[in-house]
Amino acid sequence: MTQDEMKKAAAIKALEFIENDTIVGVGTGSTVNHFIDALATIKHNITGAVSSSEESSKRLIAHGIEVFDLNSVDNLDVYIDGADEITKHMSMIKGGGAALTREKIVAAVAKKFICIADSSKQVELLGDFPLPVEVIPMARSYVARELVKLGGDPVYRQGVITDNGNVILDVHNLSIVDPKALETNINAIVGVVTNGLFAQRGADILILGNKNGAQVVK
Ligand code: 5RP
Repeated sequence: MTQDEMKKAAAIKALEFIENDTIVGVGTGSTVNHFIDALATIKHNITGAVSSSEESSKRLIAHGIEVFDLNSVDNLDVYIDGADEITKHMSMIKGGGAALTREKIVAAVAKKFICIADSSKQVELLGDFPLPVEVIPMARSYVARELVKLGGDPVYRQGVITDNGNVILDVHNLSIVDPKALETNINAIVGVVTNGLFAQRGADILILGNKNGAQVVK
């Protein structure tokens, strides 16, 4: 199986967690794109979706799935999203697709976060993947200096503006031994919108695609 086939297998398996007549929280990325395509096959059974990005909204609408504003939805049973890295403690790095802030908001509302990923995303320790941080544009240099004080090497993601009109700093070489504490500390820097550590609210269930198909790991 290729990496993309593993992503697709995990995405299809996630359909087993979708209840009829519910609104589904939908993340962003290539794994989620497979999930959206799979969701389209059962679209008549669901009420619709809440989306974490313009990109996912476009794909959902193209499939004829209604996209609801999160403010009009009181609760979500599940949020399905990918990850750039995930540990056995279900802490993640996300934001490779620059959608981290909306992803964190939709995840906060959902009762269950179901992470779908290929097996290469499972790691012992977070941090080989540079940590994305969404920043208010005028604060970019200040935030970068503060991130250096935390031991990281921030790199401005050139040419990328988030759906919220902000910029991304990708922080290399961080030692992430305590993801919850680092998530809090980075979010406390003035000018940071949020960072891509999902540790305070990690995943509840992991569906991992591997060479044998897809397995619910937890
Ligand atoms: C987007 C994300 C994605 O979930 C993450 O980057 C994984 O992407 P992919 O499914 O393409 O490997 O956090 O902001």
